[in-house]
Amino acid sequence: MRAAACIAFVCALSLHLFNPPTLVSASSLDRRDGIPSAAADAENIVPGKYIIELDSPAAGSKHKRSLTPHQDFYDELARRGISVETGIEFNDPNLFVGLEVSVGNSADLDVILSMQRVVAIRQVLMMAIPPLVKYQPVNGVNDPALPPDTQSTHVMTGVDKLHAQGNFGQGIQIGIIDSGIDYLNPSLGGGIGSNFLVKGGYDFVGDAYTGGNTPVPDDDPMDTHRGAQFSVESRACYGHGTHVAGIIAAQPGNIYNITGVAYKSSIYAYRVLGCTGTAQDPVVVEALLRAYRDGNDVITLSLSSGSGWSTSTTGVVASRIAKKGRVVTASLTNDGQMGAWNTPAPASGDDVIAVGSVENSVLPSINVTLSDGHAPIPYFSLRAFPVSGSLPVYATSTDVTITNDACNPLPANTPNLAGYLVVIRRGGCSVATKFANAAAKGAKYFFLYNDGSALGIISSGGYIAVLIRAEDGVYLVNSFASGANVKVTFSPSTAPGFTEIPGGGLISTYSGMGPTYDLRIKPAVVAPGGNILSTIPRAFGGWGVSSGTSMATPFVAGSAALYLSARGKGDKTARSVKKALQNTAMMVPASTADGAPYVSVAQQGAGLINVYNAIHARTVVSTSELLLNDTAYGNNVQIITLSNPTKKSVTYTVSHTPGLTISTINSATKLPYTSPLPTSSQAASVSILSQKFTVWPGFFNGFILSIQPPAGVDPKTFPIYSGFVTISSSLGETFSIPYLGVAAKMKDMAILDRTAQSFGIQLPALLDSAGKVPKPNQTFSLIGNDYPAILYRRAAGTPSFLADLVMPNTQVPGVTPAAKKRGLFWNWLNGIFGNNNGRITVPSGSFFNVPTVGPVQSFPYKPRHIVASDEGNGYDWVRVTSFLNRTAIPNGTYRLLIRSLKVTGNRNVEEDYDAWLSPVFTIGTPSNSTTTTSTSTPLSTSTSASTSSSTSTPVSSTSSSTVSV
Ligand SMILES: *[C@@H]1O[C@H](CO)[C@@H](O)[C@H](O)[C@H]1NC(C)=O
Ligand SMILES: *[C@@H]1O[C@H](CO)[C@@H](O)[C@H](O)[C@H]1NC(C)=O
Ligand SMILES: *[C@@H]1O[C@H](CO)[C@@H](O)[C@H](O)[C@H]1NC(C)=O
Ligand SMILES: *[C@@H]1O[C@H](CO)[C@@H](O)[C@H](O)[C@H]1NC(C)=O
Repeated sequence: MRAAACIAFVCALSLHLFNPPTLVSASSLDRRDGIPSAAADAENIVPGKYIIELDSPAAGSKHKRSLTPHQDFYDELARRGISVETGIEFNDPNLFVGLEVSVGNSADLDVILSMQRVVAIRQVLMMAIPPLVKYQPVNGVNDPALPPDTQSTHVMTGVDKLHAQGNFGQGIQIGIIDSGIDYLNPSLGGGIGSNFLVKGGYDFVGDAYTGGNTPVPDDDPMDTHRGAQFSVESRACYGHGTHVAGIIAAQPGNIYNITGVAYKSSIYAYRVLGCTGTAQDPVVVEALLRAYRDGNDVITLSLSSGSGWSTSTTGVVASRIAKKGRVVTASLTNDGQMGAWNTPAPASGDDVIAVGSVENSVLPSINVTLSDGHAPIPYFSLRAFPVSGSLPVYATSTDVTITNDACNPLPANTPNLAGYLVVIRRGGCSVATKFANAAAKGAKYFFLYNDGSALGIISSGGYIAVLIRAEDGVYLVNSFASGANVKVTFSPSTAPGFTEIPGGGLISTYSGMGPTYDLRIKPAVVAPGGNILSTIPRAFGGWGVSSGTSMATPFVAGSAALYLSARGKGDKTARSVKKALQNTAMMVPASTADGAPYVSVAQQGAGLINVYNAIHARTVVSTSELLLNDTAYGNNVQIITLSNPTKKSVTYTVSHTPGLTISTINSATKLPYTSPLPTSSQAASVSILSQKFTVWPGFFNGFILSIQPPAGVDPKTFPIYSGFVTISSSLGETFSIPYLGVAAKMKDMAILDRTAQSFGIQLPALLDSAGKVPKPNQTFSLIGNDYPAILYRRAAGTPSFLADLVMPNTQVPGVTPAAKKRGLFWNWLNGIFGNNNGRITVPSGSFFNVPTVGPVQSFPYKPRHIVASDEGNGYDWVRVTSFLNRTAIPNGTYRLLIRSLKVTGNRNVEEDYDAWLSPVFTIGTPSNSTTTTSTSTPLSTSTSASTSSSTSTPVSSTSSSTVSV
């Protein structure tokens, strides 16, 4: 559960970029608090905006026309009388040619798609920094008492050994696409230009960019930090790109004695984010193309947007760049608690190295002493608690197993807590709620004790609060309960030390979980991302600790630079980086206990990178991922070859190490499970032919594998089985190849959420724009906000989502719509008592024979929704305001038919859609209305909105204005 597993305030309080505050309240684990209104947008797409890809004859081709592909396209638009607003143009014939357009009339999209030059149309997505899990600036530069960091992350991954060999990424150029870099931070070189670490870059957006306004580019990629606006909670201007840059290239000679992974590489900074931390993806595509053109060997993006599919524009472009022989690394989400099937773009792109996060193995900590002589207790912080002397302990609960300590207002008889150190158990609600409840009784100082979640530094959000270990909290609470009156003594000048953390090296609870819906392994690898000390803008003190996949991703980018530096850069080497890192990665167990099982490949990919082993490997394994697909499309037999480039014969022994099988979908609700996902040790049955063989010098040999899905698992839970084929060589090396498959048919996965879990109302639901349940057959005028809308959630991603207006008596062949003439309340009641609420059992015959009045919405490749999202995709609305082509809906009584194509489904087969039919509603003039009769839609901007109910006219007749270029 998100709030319980969050390390920091940030996690609970971070700005919901696209969500209304009612969507995810900081303290709730579900969203019964309120049904959002249709005026709020909870999707990560930018309505009406598209990226059009144009076919471009390669340079020098005979067929090259005299005009640029863009001019050609504009001319054709003009000929066809289509008016669109155009934006950024892309013109890299080797990678991506196209442009950004805003299309007011969706029928125009059909025309555009039919144009010869047009290869693809994709929606514009909002990209965001995955919400940071924690952020703590340190008073560092002025705090000479701080001890040197042990560079534990480098030790965990073999980077320390490469540094010892003199490999610091020399000669490699790394492009960072992010919020810019505060290159004036002395630890990042103190300047920009050929004599500095940061050699160049570009600002694609300007300081005032919000992701919603027009970018104002300039040449200076400074990570702007407006001190006054700085706010951890709002993720504003906190120097994300500067932290990322330090992980790659912080320079030696700082008082923390830490360095970046590849600090002798050259850095180029591409700024695509303003202070709000969001960008529209055309800007990111521009930055990717520029980073490629500038000759960066490695390009890294700690950015993401809900996707689930490998088809988004940024994923596609990033993947093409990787295929051209550059390394592209991109982060997964920080939404690991939300379950599987949650791969964002651009990480979802094939060949992009998608990165997840493991915890650091040490944490900064400071000891307090206890008045009863008990051993000192560490709290986790880089800053001393600003209290001198002693405080008595007050525990908000004496139950040390309580799961919702201080989640509700404290009892009336609670004393004034001003003079106490208030001890609260973690979990059950956000830390903000807990502290606020105690603060209401005067509390000022807090110890939060752990509940088994990952330990870390908490961002205290204005409260004086730190996290302590579970066992220490239990001790304090028990002695409070016994009346021992123990006091805790602080010394504010104490310098922090580093405490070894048992969870170090384990997967971070927030680290996002794949795979993609087309069953690619994401993440590819994991790297240290939890509790990372790195550079931040000078204005905040220059150094800070953060956690997130955003931190793990540049670690892999830096590691790739070490690889290229050692092995010689070039296309071929670059293309082998992902495979080398995967084959030599270390499998991550589920806990530190002896014999603990291994975490699913859906969460760890190939495991924790060891870049030293990747560089020094002396065997070439033919593959680094086995994608077994589902039980309908299984690739369960695989052949693997091993090449021995050495001068000696090498003997290989092959074996199998299973990972935990995870259930991803709750078979009762058909919704994705959230953390902790049910696991089972039912493993795939693997046979290997042959398990041991010798390869002569300069030769290769292979083995055949058969990997069958585990028996005894319930396909209704869409179990993901996974594990590793491990190979040990007589040279003492080990390699592994992760495999992943689904023990079910993806086509059986329900797309639509039909529960009442999220909003206390059965979904999908017909509502008014304010989020209220309308009267049965309510009349809507379509004036202003008086329109009906469908609130729905996707339990799974869909390749195609369609919403059509149909007549109330519509007979989908063989189907009687439920809830006929009975309205939503009836539906809702029936939902509660187990009726399937308007569910159409899709019959045989063509779906497209269902007569429709006209389409209202149509989208390709949508991600799943997540239960409580910080990333802007928690639910969706279908607003019935006009037809898709913006013509007006004529007065009449209708239903809305929703169809979502199932994963691997055939677009032309109706059984392959998950469909729902709404209750009836009427479009017209309300009987008590005094407004004038009008059928014009509030959104319509076209000059001659048709009142015809036919909407399938492929060519718009509305206008013939010229193209604005
Ligand atoms: C910095 O760290 C290195 C390697 O861990 C160590 O050898 C060196 O002594 C440290 N320097 C200082 C000033 O602590
Ligand atoms: C805290 O005290 C313990 C002894 O109880 C000691 O082992 C540890 O090093 C101390 N930690 C710090 C950061 O001073
Ligand atoms: C799995 O099979 C589906 C259906 O053929 C296909 O679309 C998808 O790309 C396959 N995935 C992999 C990883 O092969
Ligand atoms: C809905 O209301 C409209 C107008 O008030 C009426 O004409 C129509 O018959 C009603 N339809 C149903 C199915 O109740």
